[in-house]
Amino acid sequence: MSHTDKHLTVVEHPLVQHKLTLMRKADASTASFRRLLREISLLLAYEVTRDLPVTMTEIDTPMQPMQAPVIEGKKLALISILRAGNGLLDGILELIPSARVGFVGLYRDPETLKPVEYYFKVPGGLDERLTIAVDPMLATGNSSVAAIDMLKKNGAKDIIFLCLLAAPEGVARMKEAHPDVPIVTAALDEKLDDHGYIVPGLGDAGDRIFGTK
Ligand code: URA
Repeated sequence: MSHTDKHLTVVEHPLVQHKLTLMRKADASTASFRRLLREISLLLAYEVTRDLPVTMTEIDTPMQPMQAPVIEGKKLALISILRAGNGLLDGILELIPSARVGFVGLYRDPETLKPVEYYFKVPGGLDERLTIAVDPMLATGNSSVAAIDMLKKNGAKDIIFLCLLAAPEGVARMKEAHPDVPIVTAALDEKLDDHGYIVPGLGDAGDRIFGTK
């Protein structure tokens, strides 16, 4: 169901692959693109949270008291890399409503082509949380690497990067800069084009989620 090496997990579940195919289609409407992204994010959340720690709590079933496992949602930080990250964030939050949430905003300086921070707000105590950074597209990897740098500067130690599509170039860049950060993705595409877009890809994820152009 998933192809995994230590650094990269490709979630090959048929439901994920089917929904991704529908999202890739150029004629998918904004509404269906958004709905599919929400559905796929639920499935990716299942994969990315499979090693979350659980703690035991006392409950009463109709039959008798028992000790039962619950996720320590407060120990989890979800970090959306703006703006397309919000499309993945929403579905995961539906599954884990008590997760803490942060945002990282970066834009590319047109002169230097380097990522520049314009917004950064994350929960406290990142050093004690599993931190899941979400961005649908891992393309050049420049903004992902910069976002992870910022999270580490703020104490994050246990980080997973979750995306929808990854390019080999971005995976290599992340592996070089942050070998300790595993990547979970629905697909590893062929390459980047001359403008840094993933091909075959799905176009500009932010534009497709928000209906901008
Ligand atoms: N960002 C996108 O939205 N799409 C790409 O193909 C690459 C980066």
